[in-house]
Amino acid sequence: MVDLVLFPSSYFSILKVDEDLQAEYEAVKTTGLFDISFFGYDKWINEDILIINNAPKEERNAVYRGWMMKPEKYEKLYQLLLEKNIRLVTTPKEYELMHIFPNIYEALKEDTAKMEIYPLHTKIDIESVKNRMGRFMVKDYVKSVKGTDFPKFFDESVTQEEFDSWMKVFYKYRGSLLTGGICIKEYLDLKRYGGRTNEYRVFYINHEIATVSRNSAQGIYTPLPSKDLLDKYKNLESIYYTVDYAELEDGSWRIIEAGDGAVSGLSEFQNYEQYFRALYHCFSDDIISDTIDSYYRM
Ligand SMILES: Nc1ncnc2c1ncn2[C@@H]1O[C@H](COP(=O)(O)OP(=O)(O)O)[C@@H](O)[C@H]1O
Ligand SMILES: [Mg+2]
Repeated sequence: MVDLVLFPSSYFSILKVDEDLQAEYEAVKTTGLFDISFFGYDKWINEDILIINNAPKEERNAVYRGWMMKPEKYEKLYQLLLEKNIRLVTTPKEYELMHIFPNIYEALKEDTAKMEIYPLHTKIDIESVKNRMGRFMVKDYVKSVKGTDFPKFFDESVTQEEFDSWMKVFYKYRGSLLTGGICIKEYLDLKRYGGRTNEYRVFYINHEIATVSRNSAQGIYTPLPSKDLLDKYKNLESIYYTVDYAELEDGSWRIIEAGDGAVSGLSEFQNYEQYFRALYHCFSDDIISDTIDSYYRM
């Protein structure tokens, strides 16, 4: 049973939730199913000092909902929280498995784009990459730099010199968030409906499909990935994680990315309250949640 949610606090007050998570916080409260604790995120990240508001008197199982951190940092947080009676459901091992994409890549290989990894700040021989992939995109082990002027993909026209100078831009944009190494991923032809791709985020909680939500602001009548495909990935070795799926131009489906559940955002139009109810039920021993029902409740 999980009945505590841990959020990062506001920068300004340990008594308030981080402003950007206000809507999630309100949704958790509205369910009436959880207690809520905060921790000072900025102090934790920048000074390694953990301040908790409303720590429980006795040990409780909790989910973290909040910002990403590097696996080493998560492990430290996990251990210190135990001393404060907060046992996060996601172990450091599970966090590292799902947060660092190359760790889970092998398990997803049949259904995801081809990927190569490179150490940080080393030259990537672009001619050889071009021989293996027609078009490709760049991420680090965790994120892309979408929403910037960095190219969505490169193709055979890119020269080594151009690519090297773009990599400098990539490093600049990732800044202190840069994690692990570099992933070069084959760029796929995603199907578009009215200009928008057809992507879904699935939260797998306690090895159930907890929620499936439209994740690319597409309309509500676009096709869904098959239940068989979603079921195929419900037993990855973590209790709380996400897998993102996208439809290709030929109507088939691929995994776009995976992530740790605690640090994966909810989708823009997802029902937050329903999300936290699903989370509670997936973790409760006595209620069998109806995965079919939640699958169609978008
Ligand atoms: N292999 C791919 N081929 C084509 N488009 C992709 C591919 N991977 C991701 N994308 C597109 O780029 C977006 C960002 O990529 P994603 O892997 O989700 O990175 P981030 O971690 O930054 O969210 C996705 O939402 C999808 O639209
Ligand atoms: Mg994404």
